[in-house]
Amino acid sequence: MRILVTGGAGFIGSNFVHHLVAHTDHTVTVLDKLSYAGDRRSIDVLPAERVSLVVGDILDAPLVERLFAEHDAVVHFAAESHNDNSLADPRPFVDTNLVGTYTLLEAARRSGIRFHHISTDEVYGDLELDDPARFTESTPYNPSSPYSSTKAGSDLLVRAWVRSFGVRATISNCSNNYGPYQHVEKFIPRQITNVLRGGRPKLYGTGENVRDWIHADDHSAAVLTILERGRVGETYLIGADGEKSNREVVELILTELGQPADAYDLVTDRPGHDLRYAIDSSKLRAELGWAPRFVDFAAGLADTIAWYREHEDWWAPQKGATEAKYAAAGQG
Ligand code: NAD
Ligand code: TYD
Repeated sequence: MRILVTGGAGFIGSNFVHHLVAHTDHTVTVLDKLSYAGDRRSIDVLPAERVSLVVGDILDAPLVERLFAEHDAVVHFAAESHNDNSLADPRPFVDTNLVGTYTLLEAARRSGIRFHHISTDEVYGDLELDDPARFTESTPYNPSSPYSSTKAGSDLLVRAWVRSFGVRATISNCSNNYGPYQHVEKFIPRQITNVLRGGRPKLYGTGENVRDWIHADDHSAAVLTILERGRVGETYLIGADGEKSNREVVELILTELGQPADAYDLVTDRPGHDLRYAIDSSKLRAELGWAPRFVDFAAGLADTIAWYREHEDWWAPQKGATEAKYAAAGQG
C-alpha cells in the first residue's frame, strides 16, 4: 500500500513511520508543514525509497486532493498538540485541528481513501484520583482545554463525515505517549533534558496529576492494527495500563540519572489542569488482538533517557527557546 502520514515529522507520526518501515512493505509519504514541532531529521534516517517528505499544510486543499489521489490510505497525526501552547494562543489549534481535519475529510469524501484519525483520551476530560472507572469508547466527551476541545471537535467531524458522506474512517484515542523524537516542551523530555543539562525537573502544582503512559511504538502497532483490521466507523481506545503520577515519573527519571529522587522544583500549576487520565483498551485487545510490548514502564523510560542522552544534537536546538517560554509563564 501507499500510505500518506500527516504530521509524520512530529513525535508520534515519525515513530509510526519508523514502525511502518520496520514491520511492513508499504511505501510512505509524509505530509508535514514542519512547524516548530516537526523535524525532518526524525525521518531522514529512513531509506529514501520507502519514505518521502512533502513539506506542506493540511489546510492546502488542492495539495491534499492531489496526494489523496496518489495513496491508498491516510493516517492523520498532524495537529497542534501541546496543552500549554493552546492556553497561550488557541488560534493555531482551531486552524490545524479543526479546519485542517475538515479539509482532509472533504478530500477523503471525494477520493474514497481509507482514513484513520489519530486522537487523544483528553477528549473525555479527567477522572478523580480514586475513581475506579476508566475511559471507554462510550464515555461522554467533556474536554477541558483549547487543545482537547479542538481534538474533540475533530473526532466529531470524522464521525459526521462517516455517517453523512460514507467516508471510510476509523478513530483512535490514545493516552500519553513517551519515547524517542518527542519535543522538549513535553513533560518527560523536558525533565530528562533539564537533568542532562544540570538543571532540575519542574512539576506543575503538587505533582499529583496522573497520566496513563504508553510507549509510542506500542501506539504505532495499535494504529497499524486498526488500519489493517479495524471496522470502518468505529472508535478504538489505545492504552497500556501505565498510570503514574507526575511525581513518580520525575522520581524515576532522577534516580535513573543518578540524582536524589527529590531534586525537583514545584512550579505554577497549569490553569484547568486535568487531574487524571486512565484508559480501558479492552475493545482493541479483544476485537483486534492488540497488546502492548512495553509493559515495564521503568525500562521503557530508561531506554528513552538513553536516547535523549545520545541525541543531544537532535534536541539541543529547541531547548533554549522552550525553557525561555516556560520561564516567562512562571514555570521555569
Ligand atoms: P507533535 O506536535 O510532535 O507533531 C505534530 C506534527 O504535525 C508536527 O510535525 C507538525 O509540523 C505537524 N503539523 C502541525 N500542523 C500542521 C499542518 N497544519 N499541516 C501539516 N503538518 C502540520 O505531536 P504528537 O505528540 O506527535 O501528536 C501527534 C498526534 O497524536 C496528534 O493528533 C495528537 O493529538 C495525538 N496524540 C498525542 C498524544 C501524545 O502523548 N503526544 C497522545 C494521544 C494522541
Ligand atoms: P504534557 O506532556 O504537556 O501532556 P498532557 O498535558 O497532554 O497530559 O504533560 C503531562 C503532565 O505533566 C501533565 O499533568 C502536566 C505535567 N507537566 C509538569 O508537571 N511539568 C512540566 O514541565 C510539563 C511540561 C508538564
